[in-house]
Amino acid sequence: MAPALTLPYEPEPELESEHFHVLDLPALYTKPSPIVLLKTLDKLTLPPPSWDRPPASQQSTPPGLTNWLTGIIASPLQWIPDEAVQEQIWESASSRLAERCGRTAMPSTDRTFKISASLTLTIHEPTLTADNLGLKTWASSYLLSKRLPQLPLPAFPAGARALELGSGTGLVGLAAAGTLPGVSSVLLTDLPEIVPNLRRNVERNRAALGGGGAVDVDVDVAVLDWRDCGEVVEEARRFELVLAADPIYSPEHPGLFAGVVGRWMKRGAGARAVVELPLRVGFEREREDFKVKMGEQGLVVVEQGVETGWDDWGNGEVSCWWSIWSWGR
Ligand SMILES: C[S@@+](CC[C@H](N)C(=O)[O-])C[C@H]1O[C@@H](n2cnc3c(N)ncnc32)[C@H](O)[C@@H]1O
Repeated sequence: MAPALTLPYEPEPELESEHFHVLDLPALYTKPSPIVLLKTLDKLTLPPPSWDRPPASQQSTPPGLTNWLTGIIASPLQWIPDEAVQEQIWESASSRLAERCGRTAMPSTDRTFKISASLTLTIHEPTLTADNLGLKTWASSYLLSKRLPQLPLPAFPAGARALELGSGTGLVGLAAAGTLPGVSSVLLTDLPEIVPNLRRNVERNRAALGGGGAVDVDVDVAVLDWRDCGEVVEEARRFELVLAADPIYSPEHPGLFAGVVGRWMKRGAGARAVVELPLRVGFEREREDFKVKMGEQGLVVVEQGVETGWDDWGNGEVSCWWSIWSWGR
């Protein structure tokens, strides 16, 4: 990466928040100075979408802006003598373009999630690679994180432990560690390729957890692949609470996921599984199968509800179904 450039004062175009016209941008044929270009590109930065409000309006990408950005990337910028500065301008224009190309093209980002008045979590999301969906935070995980302290859960015994399945970036497990009374440890789990970023997020937020109300909660991270079902799990190793957000998105997931809940959830009447699923069109069969497979394990729904959130994937608005499961009698 090119070294940071110290910018002396030089007037740059006024870009009034979202309401600007592409003609307000410095035209390349006028050979704008690097300072003007870099400051303008800086003003065009889009913040990561928030799950607390609807997605930003299309005005943040007025007609012609994409052409202006690609024009910079394609230009040799020959009127700028310093190669390091040229690099910096191309890099900045590429980032502004990537931010407007949808979630899959977005560069890595840090998002801040306000979970409660006293708990805010900062979550790192690397650039999405292959089909590693656990590198992004999904709408249902934010909804579940905020709902956790209000859920009608039983009083857990001293030393109760929580397990999160398919933690992804770790928002739900961290929120549980920071807000759930009566839980003394939380284990966040996922596939091997997701765990390094998950661990990074846990370490980054450890200090924030104390402020959320829960005291002295052990938080740890481990690989747990739902396909590894050979192991016999004794009751002492099972968990009073199993948590998951958005774990069902392929035909084999309902059976695998219900199986892993059945293996790892304690057998007592006070044990619970809490699952939140987005109501995605095209996945109705998987959701129905999830209910069937949970039932086959002996699990029944004791509380449920539907709520709406926002995501930076697809159309933005997402309806999600949360459910609390216990062992049937
Ligand atoms: C859609 S993401 C949801 C991530 C996170 N819970 C959230 O809502 O932001 C699904 C997660 O399930 C994980 N997953 C999928 N198949 C799995 C398996 N066989 N074993 C363990 N985790 C799995 C993925 O790696 C991913 O992190």
